Amino acid sequence: VPLPMPPLDLPLALDAVRGFLASEEAEALYRAALAGSRLAPVLEIGSYCGKSTLVLAAACRITGSLVYAVDHHRGSEEHQPGELFHDPELVDALTGQFDSFAAFRHNLELAGLTPWVAPIVQRAECLAPHWRTPLGMLFIDGGHSLDAALADYRGWAGHLLAGGTLAIHDVHENVASGGQAPHAICQLALQSGLFVLEQRVATLALLRRL
Ligand SMILES: C[S@@+](CC[C@H](N)C(=O)[O-])C[C@H]1O[C@@H](n2cnc3c(N)ncnc32)[C@H](O)[C@@H]1O
Repeated sequence: VPLPMPPLDLPLALDAVRGFLASEEAEALYRAALAGSRLAPVLEIGSYCGKSTLVLAAACRITGSLVYAVDHHRGSEEHQPGELFHDPELVDALTGQFDSFAAFRHNLELAGLTPWVAPIVQRAECLAPHWRTPLGMLFIDGGHSLDAALADYRGWAGHLLAGGTLAIHDVHENVASGGQAPHAICQLALQSGLFVLEQRVATLALLRRL
């Protein structure tokens, strides 16, 4: 029996939310989360202002599941002052530090999705050794250096249940179109024999844990 797939329906325009997820990627992520979150909770690494979190939480609202949204909220290399994706509006006036957590909470509240999200303000690699909950879906969209992407894959992919989804964002096959770290962990997952590629939508790769 095919699973019900209600369309993505949010009370705010996803395009208006700061972030890094194309609309066709959001739709594909949502459909994957509808299936994955029926198995067990979802965990994302890299929430930023919550664009992807909203999509995952919208699925969890339907399935009665939960998104663990892991981000230290200090931004990646490319969000720091002087870098390409720095947003001065995300600098905390009191501390002078980059901080996306207030915007993240604001967006969850606006969308009415707070009950389906457990934010964890921490570095993913500090949390990983303590994690004990099996996952139905893992979305990797944190640091894009090779070290960071490898740490995310090695620290977290083992928590996925059979049939669960490993989603990797910003996968570029060619150096000319983007950094290679997400592509590298995608290849590692496929070469492990534990994952098969289910779908590619723009730079989003969706792999199924065998
Ligand atoms: C590309 S942004 C995420 C975009 C988001 N998924 C969206 O839909 O807009 C990457 C995020 O990863 C976070 N990040 C980078 N390294 C991290 C780490 N080691 N642990 C947790 N979060 C990290 C940054 O703070 C940043 O918010």
